[in-house]
Amino acid sequence: MGAPRIESVVDAVGRTPLVRLRRVASKAPDVPVYAKLEFANPGGSVKDRAALRMIQDAFADGRLTSAKTLIDSTSGNTGVAYSIFGAALGIKVRLVMPSNVSKARKDIARSFGTQVIFSDPLEGSDGAIRHVRALVAADPGRYFYPDQYANPSNPLAHYDGTGAEILEAIGDKITHFVAGLGTSGTMMGTARRLHEHPRRICCVAVQPDQAMHGLEGMKHMASSLVPPIYDPSVPDREMTVSTEDGWDMAERLAREEGIHAGHSSGANVVAALRVAEELQRNGEGGCVVVIICDRGDRYFAPMKWERRYIW
Ligand SMILES: Cc1ncc(COP(=O)(O)O)c(C=O)c1O
Repeated sequence: MGAPRIESVVDAVGRTPLVRLRRVASKAPDVPVYAKLEFANPGGSVKDRAALRMIQDAFADGRLTSAKTLIDSTSGNTGVAYSIFGAALGIKVRLVMPSNVSKARKDIARSFGTQVIFSDPLEGSDGAIRHVRALVAADPGRYFYPDQYANPSNPLAHYDGTGAEILEAIGDKITHFVAGLGTSGTMMGTARRLHEHPRRICCVAVQPDQAMHGLEGMKHMASSLVPPIYDPSVPDREMTVSTEDGWDMAERLAREEGIHAGHSSGANVVAALRVAEELQRNGEGGCVVVIICDRGDRYFAPMKWERRYIW
């Protein structure tokens, strides 16, 4: 396959590779486990897909124009994605984040020309959301507020992208799909696409095992504001993973597979290996696909979590 020649960084989103995990999956030698490397997206995470689709759909129906400013309240991967595509497509971007997020988070966004606005650190991410809503309410004509938790373009990016790509790559074999829940866009969109396959594909949704956790990007649904796009009837199975297990697996992925991923990806792989080992024990056979959400280097300067549980 030749190297693609593209017109914009926007065209580099998606078509991420699937790589077979060998050493960490050695207890299930007959059940292939494939990791879909979403860190291969230009912004380094799975959120590129949702951010780009929300921008494109809003452009198409006029909610977003080049005269407007995209505003949202994320210091994480979605903010990086907005910043990249804002720069590439000529859209002004403003991100509200609590003032205590790491310097690295602020600098990444600013390096793309994004304007960073600080909210009260004591109010956390909810305070940042309230701040955005107040700015939008004061001047609604000025802003486009994507609201990824409620925006149908988020799961659609995965229905048309992630899910379709997995079926194209290994649709003849896949029996299980494993992904974590953040906004739930990845699981909702991908599972809906995989469920259209004539053979049953079991979709496994992963959550942290408790409300206070260090698996950044993931939501503990029972203790969270439930995203409007989340439909709990879509996944076929739920699994919970502890922060410690997720962090340990992230380290193993780097050392044993050469895949340096974030901690939530570690948690997804823990769940995927549980599924693969079950299938191996039962002699059922199968093939598991798991999402690797982002790169590990994004967590060298943690936002609020330290390995030793210091908040
Ligand atoms: C770092 C990271 N990015 C993205 C996701 C998936 O997010 P969403 O459910 O919003 O598609 C997760 C969920 O596990 C995550 O941990």
